[in-house]
Amino acid sequence: MSTGSSISYKEKIDLSRLPQHIAIIMDGNGRWAKAQGKHRIFGHKNGVKAVREVSEGCAEIGVKHLTLYAFSTENWNRPKTEVNALMELLFLTIGREIKTLQKNNIRLNAIGHIEDLPAANKKALLEVMKATSKNTRMTLTLALSYGSREELTEAAIKLAVDYKAGKISLKEINEQSISNHLYTKDIPDPELMIRTSGEHRISNFLLWQAAYTELYFTEKFWPEFDRQELYKAILDYQQRERRFGKTSEQINQQITNTN
Ligand code: FPP
Repeated sequence: MSTGSSISYKEKIDLSRLPQHIAIIMDGNGRWAKAQGKHRIFGHKNGVKAVREVSEGCAEIGVKHLTLYAFSTENWNRPKTEVNALMELLFLTIGREIKTLQKNNIRLNAIGHIEDLPAANKKALLEVMKATSKNTRMTLTLALSYGSREELTEAAIKLAVDYKAGKISLKEINEQSISNHLYTKDIPDPELMIRTSGEHRISNFLLWQAAYTELYFTEKFWPEFDRQELYKAILDYQQRERRFGKTSEQINQQITNTN
C-alpha cells in the first residue's frame, strides 16, 4: 500500500471518536517467516518492528491505551528454543526502547504472571515500568505469561477469601468488584480488539474486558501490520454502531440528545 493511501486513512479518522483503548492479538509471525523460507524467530524479530510502528501510530493520533498480547500462558508450551529466543528478544527490546518511550511520554505497563519470566526479563521490565510510570501520553501494556481464565480465577479466589474473612458481603461481589480484581483494574475496557493473520479467535485474551469490544480481523500477518493497517482498522471501527444491547433508534436518540 502506498504512503498516499495511509495519509488518506489517517485523515478520515474522526479524532473525537477514537477508541481509548485498543487491544491486539499479534499473530502470524511464524507463518510470515515460513512463507519466505526463513526461521520463525525471523518473524518474531520483524514482529517487534510492527510493535514499534503500531505503538507510534496509536500515540500519534491520541489513543490512550494499547495492550499487546505478547506471550500467553499457553506459549510456554512452544519448543524451548523458540521460548528462549522470544524471551531474549523481549529483553533486548525492553532495554532498547526505553529512550523512545521516555521521548514519546509513553508509560510501559504489564499484565500477567510476570514472575514466570526469566529473572533478567522481570528486572528489566520492572525497571522500565518504574522509569516510565509518570508518563501520560499513552499506556502501552504488554500481556506477558497472560491468560484470561487464570486472571478471572484469581479474582474469584480473592473475592471468596475476602467474603470468608467477613471483609465483604455477597452483595459486594458484583461486576464492579470483579473488574477491580483483574490485572486491568486501572485500564478502561478495550473498545477495539484486533487479531492479525486470518485467525478468528480471542484465545483467552481479556475475556471479561472484551464483553462489548468491537472485533476486527485481518488476513495480514503481524509483521505486515503497519500504521496504515492500524488506521484502516480504526476507520472500520468508527463505521460501526455500538449498541450495547440497545436498539438503533435508542442510540440515535441518545446522539440527538447529547448534540
Ligand atoms: C504470534 O505469532 C506471536 C507471538 C506468540 C509473540 C509475539 C511477540 C513479538 C511480536 C515479539 C516480542 C514482543 C514485544 C512486545 C517486544 P506466532 O508465532 O503464533 O505465528 P504463527 O501463528 O504464524 O505460528
